[in-house]
Amino acid sequence: MNKEAFNETLNELEVTQREFWNIPRETGNFLNMLIKIRQAKSVIEIGTSNGYSGLWFLEALEKTDGTLTTIEYYEKRQSVAIENFNKCGFEGRYNALQGDACELLSNLPDDVKFDFVFIDANKREYIEYFEILKPHLLPHAIIAADNVSSHRQKVQPFLDKIFADSDFQSEILDLPAGLSLSYKLV
Ligand SMILES: C[S@@+](CC[C@H](N)C(=O)[O-])C[C@H]1O[C@@H](n2cnc3c(N)ncnc32)[C@H](O)[C@@H]1O
Repeated sequence: MNKEAFNETLNELEVTQREFWNIPRETGNFLNMLIKIRQAKSVIEIGTSNGYSGLWFLEALEKTDGTLTTIEYYEKRQSVAIENFNKCGFEGRYNALQGDACELLSNLPDDVKFDFVFIDANKREYIEYFEILKPHLLPHAIIAADNVSSHRQKVQPFLDKIFADSDFQSEILDLPAGLSLSYKLV
């Protein structure tokens, strides 16, 4: 990893943050700490965009010796993300998948498991991402989902489902846009 390129790239991407719908810095820093605290080694992100949040995950995964799988529908955004990841020296630490998230997730082999999930794509599909990913979660996995306050109506079916699921303990954090956190108890 190139620390200088990492800091420079984060600063650069923050200039166009609204255009690419990136998470704010405080959410990135919080999720980065959470990956280190959980010692997560297998992270999946739904909604790569230009790779801003992915950079925060990769910096943490460098410390835990883990890998990131990240999904983006648009090829152009995905190639910008790959450029940003490689510029910071993260080659070999990520797997960038391009296409529709529900389709790609449905085709995951049964033995692919994750200990940390970040949901940040189509708000109405959060519930489907959760349902498809549940069998792929390791014990004590963490699921974070962004925009649960800013897009409350659209994500409500997801929140209802995960808050009612006794396998999970969940809370909504007062970070910008609202971040839900769910901890898999089993
Ligand atoms: C909010 S942005 C992600 C921002 C990114 N996580 C960050 O903070 O840097 C959402 C991204 O999800 C992608 N997306 C939306 N629906 C999708 C789907 N069904 N499958 C894959 N990607 C999708 C969009 O193209 C967009 O780039």
